[in-house]
Amino acid sequence: MPTTSSAPGKVYLFGEHAVVYGEPAVPCAIERRASVTVRERDDDRLRVSADDLTLDGFTVEYGVDGGSPDVDVPTPLIEAAMGYVDASVAAARDAAGRPQAGFDVEIESDIPLGAGLGSSAAVVVAAVDAATRELGVELAPEEVAEYAYEVEYEVQEGEASRADTFCSAMGGAVRVEGDACETLDAPDLPFVVGYDGASHDTGALVAGVRALKDEYDFAEDTVEAIGDLVRQGEDALAEGDVAELGRLMDFNHGLLSALGVSARSLDEMVWAARDAGASGAKLTGAGGGGCIVALDAGDSTETALSLTPTCAEAFRASLAHEGVRAE
Ligand code: MEV
Repeated sequence: MPTTSSAPGKVYLFGEHAVVYGEPAVPCAIERRASVTVRERDDDRLRVSADDLTLDGFTVEYGVDGGSPDVDVPTPLIEAAMGYVDASVAAARDAAGRPQAGFDVEIESDIPLGAGLGSSAAVVVAAVDAATRELGVELAPEEVAEYAYEVEYEVQEGEASRADTFCSAMGGAVRVEGDACETLDAPDLPFVVGYDGASHDTGALVAGVRALKDEYDFAEDTVEAIGDLVRQGEDALAEGDVAELGRLMDFNHGLLSALGVSARSLDEMVWAARDAGASGAKLTGAGGGGCIVALDAGDSTETALSLTPTCAEAFRASLAHEGVRAE
């Protein structure tokens, strides 16, 4: 019997990028999930196929020692996705003490890849959970989060925080500051997402912020300012003060722009959302292209975004209360 697990994507209410340097962040899981099905093989090979990564489907096969895939990897984005799956399977082999275990892995996802909605974290969390369960090991969501963080850290060459993987494993709203991760009580916030259809390389964007911070004091100060803003945001979240959360999201977007990670397409969507009456709007995730998140209880933001030339897709996203789960 194959084993299937799923895990949610996320939006950042506050704190992306600064979280990499030990400032707090508050990501929230959303009801868009990645689902990974794993079947143990008789040999030690790894065969990965994906039908729906908002790209053309693909199938790639590797030996247990990594090495070269048997077919050409079609695009850099798929190559990146393969890196995450490869490392997730290695983590599961490690957790189960079965270094030679081979798998067929199937990925299905309705989270756009590399767009700021935590697609890689969701795939890694679901893959670690499914592959360990397939080998007879039941991990708690906190343990899945730990393995998944190590995978992201390795694949992104040290440029990763625990935020995405912890949020995807636990679900709901979470707070991450350095190694300290906790779940938060949060109201069901009226998230609207705008997606420009583009993808980004998270590792490269994080490295860009690090370089800016090393060269300019203002960038160092900006990272600290984001941390202060997140702490204020936590109070607003605890009080369910959507107007204040929106104001702080607007400030957070400005600070992320100062760090050089916004893009014209993202700025246009942010302004379209604000003009339509959203309480606030900001880019979410690594930036450079991908998604913005706005707060709006009515329909006006979604409609305005869908009419914005740089917006390929606009949708409402509810908080995913459940993190990783067996399907
Ligand atoms: C990417 O979704 C979020 C970043 O803060 C990187 C990370 O936390 O690992 C940009």
